[in-house]
Amino acid sequence: MLFGHEKIEILHLPTPLEHLENVSKDLGIDVWCKRDDLTNLATGGNKLRKLEYFLKDALDQGATMLITEGGAQTNHGRLTAAVASKYGLRSAIITADEYPGEISANLLLDGMLGCDVHFVKDMESGRQKVIDKYTAEGEKVYYVPMGGSNELGILGYAECAMELDKQAREAGIPEAVIYVTIGSMATYVGLLIGLKECGSKLRLVGVNVLPYGEAGREDEELLKALEGYCEKINKFYGRDFGITRDDFIFTTAYIHGAYNNAVEEVRDVLYYLARKEAIIIDPCYTGKTFEAIVDGAKKGAIPKGSHVIFMHTGGLPGIYTKHHRVELEKELMPYMHIEDH
Ligand SMILES: Cc1ncc(COP(=O)(O)O)c(C=O)c1O
Repeated sequence: MLFGHEKIEILHLPTPLEHLENVSKDLGIDVWCKRDDLTNLATGGNKLRKLEYFLKDALDQGATMLITEGGAQTNHGRLTAAVASKYGLRSAIITADEYPGEISANLLLDGMLGCDVHFVKDMESGRQKVIDKYTAEGEKVYYVPMGGSNELGILGYAECAMELDKQAREAGIPEAVIYVTIGSMATYVGLLIGLKECGSKLRLVGVNVLPYGEAGREDEELLKALEGYCEKINKFYGRDFGITRDDFIFTTAYIHGAYNNAVEEVRDVLYYLARKEAIIIDPCYTGKTFEAIVDGAKKGAIPKGSHVIFMHTGGLPGIYTKHHRVELEKELMPYMHIEDH
């Protein structure tokens, strides 16, 4: 029970907090990894912690079906479908992305999980049509917003903050700085609220991967969005969580111009972490966040000897998305040795 809300226990928590010994030696900073990629359904990821609370709410409302929306490569959609399968519910994802476009690995996994995917031209009208279709078929639909980022969506990561605070104290790094990706915001804001709530000394840096607003004004726009989200949360829970402007520490320096684009610097970081620690990150979310750590250490923005926790939020299927895969294949060709037979 957190802030008056219960969950269905889907996950085997806590996820591990691992020391990245090789990376730490190499970068001269002390790097740890919170392995939320190891959460246990359908290749894992951060959305599962949110879905524990959504599932409880859905079942309490007598839902027979979960529907959500997102881009064609949505990790959140895949994990919503996974939870639905596991708990005997139907599921569907609505996307305004084009078809035939790129069939992401997530879409294949969605199909494998038995989830219907609806490609609509316009989300506003398309969303309602899809919901009406299933309602007419007799389903009781529970709608999970994009990214699972509404008022309930913060609970999973508020809880994670408390779990991580305990682990960090046990590991002797109570004042470490957590680096986490900011997408639809609930993971970052949930962590912020959870850290405040348990009086943690851990600090939090968000690495934004979604360009909010015009180029050059990303910081301002993101700050506005974060403040608006926190206001909604205070109102919903009927209390002030005490998050102020000073708490919002984030960077927009690693967006590289667009969401989910193929970027050489990000792929270099994917290779680096794979080769040093055998941990696989993705080019859309976690790669950009880990880049912030590597770049920060190299440029001295993260002082030598600092304790840093990289929040691994999953996203593995992203590496199989065509526009990433083409680049990966090109760069990894030197590792393919075609022997004469
Ligand atoms: C792998 C991965 N990491 C991080 C995020 C960002 O989380 P949030 O949307 O809660 O900001 C997402 C969101 O889709 C994700 O799929």
